[in-house]
Amino acid sequence: MHELGSTVTARTGLVGVIGHPVAHSLSPRIHNAAFKAQNVDLVYVAFDVAPERLVEAFLGIRALGVRGVNVTVPHKEAALDLLDDVDPLAARVGAVNTVVNAAGRLTGHNTDVTGFAQALRLVVPGGARGLRCVVAGAGGAARAVLAALVDDGAASIRVFNRTSARAERLSEAAGAWGATECTAVSEQGLPAAAAGADLLVNATSVGLAAKVKDLPVPVDILHSGLAVVDLVYGEGPTRLVREARERGARAVDGIEMLLMQAGQAYRLWTGNEPSMDAMRASIERKEG
Ligand code: ATR
Repeated sequence: MHELGSTVTARTGLVGVIGHPVAHSLSPRIHNAAFKAQNVDLVYVAFDVAPERLVEAFLGIRALGVRGVNVTVPHKEAALDLLDDVDPLAARVGAVNTVVNAAGRLTGHNTDVTGFAQALRLVVPGGARGLRCVVAGAGGAARAVLAALVDDGAASIRVFNRTSARAERLSEAAGAWGATECTAVSEQGLPAAAAGADLLVNATSVGLAAKVKDLPVPVDILHSGLAVVDLVYGEGPTRLVREARERGARAVDGIEMLLMQAGQAYRLWTGNEPSMDAMRASIERKEG
């Protein structure tokens, strides 16, 4: 059976991730490896919580004394209303991905913003300053991406989303965060926006779990002048990353951002610096 069970005692604290779907999540592997590496008496599990049960799940966190959770698709915005405190960055972004339970008081944080900024630098070492960006998605993850791009000083951001009204709302909100020009773009306008862009970010959940073959944008908008950051990850590179690389674009998937935000969650929960080597080694996977 599982090696972890042997170390669990009556004093072991519980942390986890709340999402829907969540069975694909690598966070349990990453965090449990890091806890083990430093003898931290916590265990990390995945909770598949449908949106209509999120309120109950947060009551459960309080009742059971769960020490902290990560919050992922599709709950990052809804979770904001279920907390006692929200840190200023998460409040600005309007989305929470990490919750700390300190003696019954729940505080929300957003570690996606710096996680994304760090992952972006793997394909664009100088960050987004002066770049023309296209972001697919308008949920909580997209809000964190826009915050990072605006903070970096991106030249422009075009937001594309299946539900266009959401793209319009998000681009309006982000326009007020800094000097970056933010507008929504329709499906018809997407090819022209992508042709003139330096950076494409997938902040939708398309390509996740059972939908690994799906693409968030038409494949023919990908070109060699683009850097591509896909927030989605899987057992190997996502289809978007593979198609982008085939067309000569530099592309990175969601693994690096996942590791960066996991490191920050670990610091928030334990007060310790994590072993990033242990975290990285826990998810060694096939490339190709
Ligand atoms: P999160 O908070 O993690 O960003 P979310 O708020 O549910 O999760 O956002 C998911 C994003 O993926 C949204 O932009 C969503 O588009 P809609 O606003 O139209 O729902 C997008 N998304 C999810 N499934 C999709 C699909 N099959 N095709 C296109 N976009 C999809």
